[in-house]
Amino acid sequence: MLELTSLEGSRAAYRAALDFSQEQVRALASNDPGFYPMYTERGRWRHGKPAWTRWCDGFLPGMMWIFAKRTGDAEWASLAETYTTPLEPRKMDRNVHDLGFIFLSTYHRWHALTGRSELNDVVIQAGRTLALRFKEKGEYMASFMGPESLFIDIMANVGIIFYAALQTGDAALMDVAMKHSLTSRRVLVRGDGSSSHEGIYDLATGEFLRQSTQQGWRSDSCWSRGLAWAIYGFSAAYKLVRDTRFLQTAELCADYYLEHVPAHGVPPMDFDSPVDERREESSAAAITAAGLLRLATLAPDRAKGMYYDQAARRVLLTLARPPYLAAETPGWEGILKEGIYHLNLGLGVGESVMWGEYFFVEALDRALGAD
Ligand code: GLY
Repeated sequence: MLELTSLEGSRAAYRAALDFSQEQVRALASNDPGFYPMYTERGRWRHGKPAWTRWCDGFLPGMMWIFAKRTGDAEWASLAETYTTPLEPRKMDRNVHDLGFIFLSTYHRWHALTGRSELNDVVIQAGRTLALRFKEKGEYMASFMGPESLFIDIMANVGIIFYAALQTGDAALMDVAMKHSLTSRRVLVRGDGSSSHEGIYDLATGEFLRQSTQQGWRSDSCWSRGLAWAIYGFSAAYKLVRDTRFLQTAELCADYYLEHVPAHGVPPMDFDSPVDERREESSAAAITAAGLLRLATLAPDRAKGMYYDQAARRVLLTLARPPYLAAETPGWEGILKEGIYHLNLGLGVGESVMWGEYFFVEALDRALGAD
């Protein structure tokens, strides 16, 4: 269970971690311009190992947009633009379920900074494209694995469809986003607040067949990053449409995380993996911290909101220091160590992962507010 010990010195630690994050991102962009890495291999971004699926290109420019907003530095904005514009064609990409990750981190942030309507149009189109994955039978958006597969990860992307629906007034888009979220809530989140990575459907009938996993320990286990996507995604859905079912689910998942995580706040890769085979997963902690900071502002119960806020800050303080922060590891090119991409395929195990970097920076930005 997470321990809410003293947070003394936390703001200074968050600021220092954000400074270090800027240094690492600046070094990556100047040493390897135009490269969009996913995960490190022994601390180096450039290596020949596979991507599995191409879902991470928004996270590097996404961090640059956060730095641009925080610092007002025109160089960050210019660099962010350079890395963002090549992504525009992917607003039509039907091969991935990750268009929220790609466009909410980039065009949406760029639009928020400038108010330029053509940037918003890109976000809306990406939302429309993602909605094309919807399966009427079963009422879910299919993962990149195939039409029978639903992933909890998609909850962290469905926000772009809610956003597009709200911006355009398109009721059909809203219907897709609502149905997908309610299906995910029903079949992927369990009564105790743990979550399944994947659900498998019968395509002929639309019947839900079973829970499954790609990256977790077992079909009936709780992959910690999947739970983090649920906390992040259901709280985002609640913020956008204020349906209390999403708030309840976000809180249920958050409570499971906080009750089962070790005292320092960084979970094992899977909450059900055998103790002697456990490896930590820092990106799940970073995503959870970002999600909890948002949930803290939404929880109607003030005491609960304060609890989520303190919990998020506790997790973030752990991440903002070694051994998770790479600041004291010479030659390590990432920001956060001890992330895991895909243990079962042996990809990015005990490494820096680009989504871990992005959600860490997003959480630091949220924790520091208008500092
Ligand atoms: N969305 C893919 C992952 O979390 O690894």
